[in-house]
Amino acid sequence: MAESAVKFLLEKVAPLFDNDLQLMKGVREEIVYLRGELERMTAFLRIADAFEESDAEVKVWIKQVRDIAHDSEDVLDEFTLLQAHDHGEGLYGSIHRFSCCIKNTKARYRVASELQGINSRIRKISEVHKRLRHKFNMAEQGSGSSTAGHMWEDYRGDALLLEKTDIVGIDKPIKQLVGWLLSGGSSREVVSVAGMGGLGKTTLVKQVYDAAKVKKHFKVHAWITVTQSFKLGELLKDMLQQLHKAIRRPLPQGTNNMNNNQLKTLIKDFLQKRRYLIVLDDVWHLYGWDSVKYALPNNICGSRIMLTTRNADVASTTSVEPGGKVYNMEPLPQLESWELLCKKTFQGSPCPPYLEEISNCILRKCEGLPLAIVAVSGVLATKDKRRIDEWDMVGHSLGAEIEGNDKLKDLKKRASSKQKKKNTGRCCRGLPQ
Ligand SMILES: Nc1ncnc2c1ncn2[C@@H]1O[C@H](COP(=O)(O)OP(=O)(O)OP(=O)(O)O)[C@@H](O)[C@H]1O
Ligand SMILES: [Mg+2]
Repeated sequence: MAESAVKFLLEKVAPLFDNDLQLMKGVREEIVYLRGELERMTAFLRIADAFEESDAEVKVWIKQVRDIAHDSEDVLDEFTLLQAHDHGEGLYGSIHRFSCCIKNTKARYRVASELQGINSRIRKISEVHKRLRHKFNMAEQGSGSSTAGHMWEDYRGDALLLEKTDIVGIDKPIKQLVGWLLSGGSSREVVSVAGMGGLGKTTLVKQVYDAAKVKKHFKVHAWITVTQSFKLGELLKDMLQQLHKAIRRPLPQGTNNMNNNQLKTLIKDFLQKRRYLIVLDDVWHLYGWDSVKYALPNNICGSRIMLTTRNADVASTTSVEPGGKVYNMEPLPQLESWELLCKKTFQGSPCPPYLEEISNCILRKCEGLPLAIVAVSGVLATKDKRRIDEWDMVGHSLGAEIEGNDKLKDLKKRASSKQKKKNTGRCCRGLPQ
């Protein structure tokens, strides 16, 4: 199956991040991209595998993924062999080592260029993947299937649009973060909110950013969504625009034609004597932080930077800045998770007693991840409340999706020890545990 070939490959890719690949310029980024795309595809592959025989386009795509997985595996095997090559002892060993060193360097560049070739193939199949997912989702609805596969992808990005009434369970963290922003020293401080995707980092920070006290305290503010593939020039121009708009100043002439260094200088000069709050949402790599931090001066006006990240390295690096703090997002507690599920599934009405057991079981599978709760509730809300079998099916497909989603499995591990204690232990009709 293509899914197992890709999973096998992902296991091989993981250790490379600690090895020599990071010495080769650009290759690490290529591998990060490769891994990200493959991870994204695995969950879909499970479903696509089932469609292989009935859809010619899916069949071709699966074959391409399988071929890429096998080709990448060969290249990575070659690379691993190069690493493990033994040179022997003594004079012969030294001469052998020297000649191997030259051969190895050439071989590594060949491996690197083969990897880049594989990535350009990955880029093409990723495009098809996007199209197929869309097609697949439509086929799914058409067939009346209630699988929960990928439904949470549709809810990403809503965090900036949520109304206060949509939000549950974060009053305390809002208070804590507002406190961190308003108290503390007069030097610039960096507050990171860290945790896996879908835990509600952006939702939380947006509420803090919009809090009346915060807006009043930081007249100069900007919200920048960084993302994995940000373009620095556009990011800096956006920041400059928001900062000027916040204090109703016109944007200086000619910013459109400025290079990144000129833009950074302009931002730095603008902020130098002002108390500012900048949010950098969704910072994927250290590079994201490194490329803007010098534009944000360490003045003595009580300025603050908040960033959200899934990357623990980014959080720990920013925490060593003077006054740096990290807020680690936790899964929603049981009560709040239930509140969110009911809000989204029954639109304010209470859960009918005969659906409580199955709803609780489905909720337990979400392990307090707001994105999963909102997504599964979106599916449940469309189900006939009298058809418990349909609700069971949602539970089943959610189980499979969580098993196929490494990130959710990680969360499951972390959260299970906490939540097991709180769960009532009611059993779930035929759902995989
Ligand atoms: N406290 C909450 N109350 C209600 N819904 C929430 C809450 N937190 C998150 N959500 C829901 O989960 C979705 C995902 O949350 P959010 O985008 O904030 O996660 P994130 O941690 O920033 O994820 P990513 O790392 O992918 O950016 C939101 O769009 C929202 O629908
Ligand atoms: Mg986010």
